[in-house]
Amino acid sequence: MTEVEVWWGRIEQVRAEFADDLDPVEQQRLKAYVRAEDKARFLLGCTIVRRLLAHRLSLPPAKISLDRTCPECGKPHGKVRAEGAELSVTHSGDLVGVAISDRPVGLDVEKVDPGLDVAGVASISLSDAELAALPRNDERVHAFTTYWTRKEAIVKATGDGLRTDLRTITGAPNGFQVIQLTVDPGYVAALAVVSAEPPVVRTLSAQVLI
Ligand SMILES: CC(C)(COP(=O)(O)OP(=O)(O)OC[C@H]1O[C@@H](n2cnc3c(N)ncnc32)[C@H](O)[C@@H]1OP(=O)(O)O)[C@@H](O)C(=O)NCCC(=O)NCCS
Ligand SMILES: [Zn+2]
Repeated sequence: MTEVEVWWGRIEQVRAEFADDLDPVEQQRLKAYVRAEDKARFLLGCTIVRRLLAHRLSLPPAKISLDRTCPECGKPHGKVRAEGAELSVTHSGDLVGVAISDRPVGLDVEKVDPGLDVAGVASISLSDAELAALPRNDERVHAFTTYWTRKEAIVKATGDGLRTDLRTITGAPNGFQVIQLTVDPGYVAALAVVSAEPPVVRTLSAQVLI
């Protein structure tokens, strides 16, 4: 059985003292964010990951070692890796999500932006068939964002990120399960997992970790 836990936090749950558990690389990234909400999203993502693993390993959150090395350039801005678990982190608007499993996972949440230039982003991310199927009415942004989160979840599960041409990803690739998750109104989220069978997904609130 493929099991995935998806933990959701909200930026108002952030407290400054969470930063004490970050490692020096994370501290540096935290410092580099200019906008308070970017700091809060990053800090909460780190905190959820650390506390989840701390609980599993019976260690203090600060003692968890995480590796975010980008395979492309070596900077610490890539997929979060830890021993003994597969992880994926996502943030948008007020929401921060962390998926954890023993299979490679990709999680993506997006706040639906009514002002989005759908034509512009769709032309670089959707296949011709998807473009043709995109509704022309007021469902358009929501429908586009749904495609986008599914594709992002897949490239986050592989770890390739936006190095992959999203136009070439249609439906679920062989060996992947992609599912839509229900989140707050105004947000769309998708989960991809490398698995031959549909996963059992448990949705949890990060409040209990905080
Ligand atoms: C990561 C990415 C797929 C999605 O980003 P997004 O939708 O803007 O943002 P999200 O909040 O959903 O996801 C960000 C999280 O994805 C994770 N991530 C970063 N790179 C990743 C990758 N290649 N694969 C999977 N997850 C990745 C990180 O955990 C990051 O959160 P954190 O830095 O706070 O820990 C996209 O930004 C990307 O591909 N970036 C890399 C682009 C690239 O190749 N750059 C070259 C750098 S040299
Ligand atoms: Zn890089």
